[in-house]
Amino acid sequence: MNGRIALMKLHLPLAWPAAPPSHAGVVLRPFRDSDAHLAAELTQDPYIRLISTIPVRPTAEEAMEWILHQNGRFTEGMGYSFAIADAATDRALGQIGMWLKAVETGRATAGYLVAPPARGRGVGAAALCALTAFAWTLPVLHRVELYIEPWNTGSIRTAEAAGYQREGLLRSHQSIGGERRDMLLYAAIRP
Ligand SMILES: CC(C)(COP(=O)(O)OP(=O)(O)OC[C@H]1O[C@@H](n2cnc3c(N)ncnc32)[C@H](O)[C@@H]1OP(=O)(O)O)[C@@H](O)C(=O)NCCC(=O)NCCS
Repeated sequence: MNGRIALMKLHLPLAWPAAPPSHAGVVLRPFRDSDAHLAAELTQDPYIRLISTIPVRPTAEEAMEWILHQNGRFTEGMGYSFAIADAATDRALGQIGMWLKAVETGRATAGYLVAPPARGRGVGAAALCALTAFAWTLPVLHRVELYIEPWNTGSIRTAEAAGYQREGLLRSHQSIGGERRDMLLYAAIRP
């Protein structure tokens, strides 16, 4: 993944990172065809089935479409979708995104998914640290936000481990699985 995108509203060139962002044993890199296994692994989690666009029990073709869709996010100007890969083996363990809908205000939002077999060993927190450090290499960004359901202890602890602070509860913030859900707002600001 090379080159730059121009965000239409800003005429702002944003580059794909020259070196893959990394932290504590994980690297963030573009998706590859060989990551197709990840689509099926992620959808083992019923919550991921609710919040992601991956089809349940994806066929090989659907898994490839999902991978193409992730790499397309950058060229479409939506933001960065990275595969979270094991730095030693290069195996894809999850996905992390930084979305730039509000980039003209200096803000991005982030979201992350770790495959159930790879959980509980620091992958989510390391990926979020790597993503956040990368965010501060983009001069336009001053704030990265996370929206987390109050029951989601794993995501809350991941956010806090990466230095994000809780700023409040947004009541009835969005619809997930056909229900209005409250969301905790977490954020990191440019150091
Ligand atoms: C949330 C998620 C990304 C965590 O990934 P992970 O790689 O297992 O997280 P880590 O191993 O880096 O753990 C980070 C911290 O969270 C804690 N943690 C992780 N999962 C936990 C759980 N289910 N319950 C309690 N604590 C948990 C870890 O103990 C660690 O805490 P520490 O820093 O105090 O040691 C993963 O569970 C996931 O993909 N969940 C489904 C999708 C999701 O909810 N995404 C976030 C949407 S806002």
